[in-house]
Amino acid sequence: MSRPQHFGWFLARGFGPQGWGYPALDWDYDWTRPDVYQHAARTLEQAGFDLVIIEDAPSLGSPSTIDLRVRHAFGGPKHDPLLLAPYLFQATRHLGVVPTVNPAAYLPYTAARQFATLQHLSGHRLGLNVVTDTGSARHFSDAAQLGHDEAYDRAEEWLSGIRALWRSWDDGALLADRETGVFADGSRLRATEHRGEYFAFDGPLNAVPFTDGDPAIVSPGGSGRGLGFAGANSDVQLALAPLHEKSVREYRAKVHDAALAKGRRPEDIKILFAIQPVITSSSEEADRIVAASAQPDDSALVQIARKQSSDLETDLTSLDLDEPLDISIFGAHVSRGSIQRLVGDRDQDAPLRAHLTALARTGRITDRTGFVGTAHEFADLIEELGEWGNDGVLLWGDFHPVTLHRTLDELVPVLRRRGILRREYAEGGLQTNLHQF
Ligand SMILES: Cc1cc2nc3c(=O)[nH]c(=O)nc-3n(C[C@H](O)[C@H](O)[C@H](O)COP(=O)(O)O)c2cc1C
Repeated sequence: MSRPQHFGWFLARGFGPQGWGYPALDWDYDWTRPDVYQHAARTLEQAGFDLVIIEDAPSLGSPSTIDLRVRHAFGGPKHDPLLLAPYLFQATRHLGVVPTVNPAAYLPYTAARQFATLQHLSGHRLGLNVVTDTGSARHFSDAAQLGHDEAYDRAEEWLSGIRALWRSWDDGALLADRETGVFADGSRLRATEHRGEYFAFDGPLNAVPFTDGDPAIVSPGGSGRGLGFAGANSDVQLALAPLHEKSVREYRAKVHDAALAKGRRPEDIKILFAIQPVITSSSEEADRIVAASAQPDDSALVQIARKQSSDLETDLTSLDLDEPLDISIFGAHVSRGSIQRLVGDRDQDAPLRAHLTALARTGRITDRTGFVGTAHEFADLIEELGEWGNDGVLLWGDFHPVTLHRTLDELVPVLRRRGILRREYAEGGLQTNLHQF
């Protein structure tokens, strides 16, 4: 038997028009209503997953490129995942639900109170995926947009302010003593006066303290500053890194060093590596999919160009597929990492077709060139990750029952038989389950 690991699902396109542009998902669900997500959440809980994380961006992006975001619904619209969370809690008993939150969007006192309320309502199953994207700044004030590291500084101040408010009720402040008729001892509530660089507010918080831990803090940033944030603050770090032994071990060591530097223990942070597997019923089917992906037709390339146009806020669909891609078309606001992922290390004169074809290409799990393979092959990969000390895996996709069943139906029994995936949850909520092993 292998070591058990933690499993998360990442709703990668956020709380948006699920199924749009994918005829296979056309089950007539209304994406603005909770049913499709509740159905998926129950399936995920039945599978034994620890948590679902809901991606988000509060903004439709730069005013000049909004059409690229909404035309095929790749980058918007997105409704607020924090408000979807209660519906998912209601549909499940153990699953952790982790909406993405941006410190720009919620003042610390409001955030502390709303998160506390959800933590109580859910039986301590709330998590918060804290992101520092600054592209949405103009929606919240006319202040200048923060730089990359400053946004992390603000996030740390925001979170420590929220935590101070959560602790503004000392132990023993909440009595609920029927005999004496005293509900709470007001002298044990802290004033919590915060005057910081980015925020100023007073406490104490008008919400009662937690019995089973704070909401779990999740972080996805992979830069040095991002990993520093994780070391200081996170219960879960989302890792996007090559799944080779050296890179997995190095990534984990960096997060652990960052935790130790802040006086925390490495085991306080569960690191989940993000993977988007394509599970097939046979090795032959996997081979066929990989072979076909090497020669994508023009319609497949156009579909990729649409998604890239949304992510890169630059219209690639109007360019000639057979002309070299001039990267000076990307404005300064476009992430250099995203451009790098598009162009790779191909020649400067490489036509757009070459870049899109490289993105279309999938690989087999067996030779570690990609994630197409059978449930057993995928379980072999997870097992190997476990031997390198890995804590868990974040599967990536939409949150539609069709997608969940396609990915999980064969995988769950295999992972269970090998002892990698839990069969039961502990009582006590998300933190308890995350720290169970
Ligand atoms: C698995 C994963 C999930 C992410 N989810 C979000 C998200 O929901 N919203 C968002 O604005 N950014 C999201 N990001 C982007 C990160 O917040 C961050 O901007 C990016 O990783 C760059 O951060 P860094 O400069 O510290 O590496 C995600 C990144 C990863 C790897």
